[in-house]
Amino acid sequence: MNEAPSQNREPHENDGHETGDRPDGTGPTRRSVLWTAGAAGAGLGIGGLGTGSAAAAGADQASTATAAGAATAPKGRHKTMIGVPFERRSTVRIGLIGLGNRGMGMLPLYLAIPGVRVVAVCDPVKDKAAKAVQLVTAAGQPAPTAYTKGDHDFENLCKRGDLDYVYIATPWDWHFAMAKSALRNGKHAGVECPVAMRLDELWELVDLSERTRRHCMQVENCCYGRNEMRVLRMAHAGRFGSLLHAAGAYNHDLRQLMFDPTYYEGPWRRLWHTRLRGDLYPTHGFGPIANYMDVNRGDRVVRISSFGTPALGLAEYREAHMPPGDPSQRETYIESDRTFSLIQTAKGRVLRLEHDVSTPHPYSRINSLGGTKGVFEDYPERIYIEPDHTDDEWGDFSQYAEWDHWLWKEHANPPGGHGGMDYIMLYRLMQCFHLGLVPDFDVYDAATWSAPVPLSHASIKANGAPQEIPDFTRGLWRKPRQGVDSPKPQE
Ligand SMILES: NC(=O)c1ccc[n+]([C@@H]2O[C@H](COP(=O)([O-])OP(=O)(O)OC[C@H]3O[C@@H](n4cnc5c(N)ncnc54)[C@H](O)[C@@H]3O)[C@@H](O)[C@H]2O)c1
Repeated sequence: MNEAPSQNREPHENDGHETGDRPDGTGPTRRSVLWTAGAAGAGLGIGGLGTGSAAAAGADQASTATAAGAATAPKGRHKTMIGVPFERRSTVRIGLIGLGNRGMGMLPLYLAIPGVRVVAVCDPVKDKAAKAVQLVTAAGQPAPTAYTKGDHDFENLCKRGDLDYVYIATPWDWHFAMAKSALRNGKHAGVECPVAMRLDELWELVDLSERTRRHCMQVENCCYGRNEMRVLRMAHAGRFGSLLHAAGAYNHDLRQLMFDPTYYEGPWRRLWHTRLRGDLYPTHGFGPIANYMDVNRGDRVVRISSFGTPALGLAEYREAHMPPGDPSQRETYIESDRTFSLIQTAKGRVLRLEHDVSTPHPYSRINSLGGTKGVFEDYPERIYIEPDHTDDEWGDFSQYAEWDHWLWKEHANPPGGHGGMDYIMLYRLMQCFHLGLVPDFDVYDAATWSAPVPLSHASIKANGAPQEIPDFTRGLWRKPRQGVDSPKPQE
């Protein structure tokens, strides 16, 4: 089973309470164990990964799963989760799993939203859990229960009877197992990007969400960026005419962070570069442009062709910056430095995705949209739509503030990072819980936006051969319905 990654699990299988960093330096810290163990398992390349490592197996089976499962829904067929509202509740009781960079960044935002109670937190690193508990009590809430007893204590958090929603911000290797555990225990799940790394896992989450009647959501914050929401509203109002093409990306130079032993908890993120060749992180680019095109709400993505450059960036960086004895020296990177994917929709539109975290580049999610009346491009933001622009010169996007989504009109200066989109997303998600509304995004979006991970890998391995993208909605994509472009609810 692909339930947990060997580099996280094996060093700690029997050590329950001993997983916290040791401040006195008397023994290996969790972080140092992870870094060393990770490196030991790396360097095998894609061909040598069928060794029992769950994550490795994921890589080896990615293309197999693609071939076997791309077009085929799993046997069980349950009632759809499209249009299913949350149960209305005045207080949302939440549990957080993973208290690293992301989890600890999101915790204060959950705490800033009225009607949210953080009941439980989980991370095998005790210091992190203690800091999270402190943050919660400083916000005036009772101390949450901390689950710190090893890599599987999250299962105990998920079993609690007093949780409505579980937020998962752990390494990718764990997303699937944790989402599954939350759903099976009757909790709605919000999972960091991507929701899972394999096609069979994506199908299983679709199936499980339908069977348990619980939402499994990709908490894709970039869908809530100010520009993205403005473009979304303009697109739906016809300002770009009939939509033709769009592009999205995660182009973010992470080399320094991926080799920094103190940033991530272990080398998990870098190690994915030893396992897959394709787009490891498609959802930031894909989610917003899928929304522009009403993917799963009137159109659907049908096939993907991907190409990848050679994988040179990380090795070059290592050569220049890491000492000879560093565990990373044993790793062999196969992930293309830049991946390019072209996706065609049922209506014939074309989407382009890029991923590059291993070469110098200013941050860009590209975020472009084109139609019969004009085009928007981001980084930097600029617009050209008829009849406003006819002189072959880009126009000023700030002139279009009237198109801001109501969430951005009501929260002009949201707290938190990423320009405020994290808060806007959480505010809206919690609002849907409080008012008993249908969430803006569901398991079908989660699976669709994450599918390029295995499919781009399979396509690159097959010299760009198109891979069929499953219809996770099982035919229900044709029906227009509301998504992130929500009307303001009557409270
Ligand atoms: N949406 C965004 O903008 C955004 C930004 C950053 C990260 N992320 C996502 O958030 C996730 C975490 O990234 P990060 O940068 O915080 O990584 P990180 O390494 O800083 O944090 C991961 C945390 O998970 C914990 N963890 C590992 N195994 C666990 C287990 N079995 N049970 C409980 N906790 C466990 C680790 O101890 C660590 O504290 C990733 O999926 C990443 O893609 C999303």
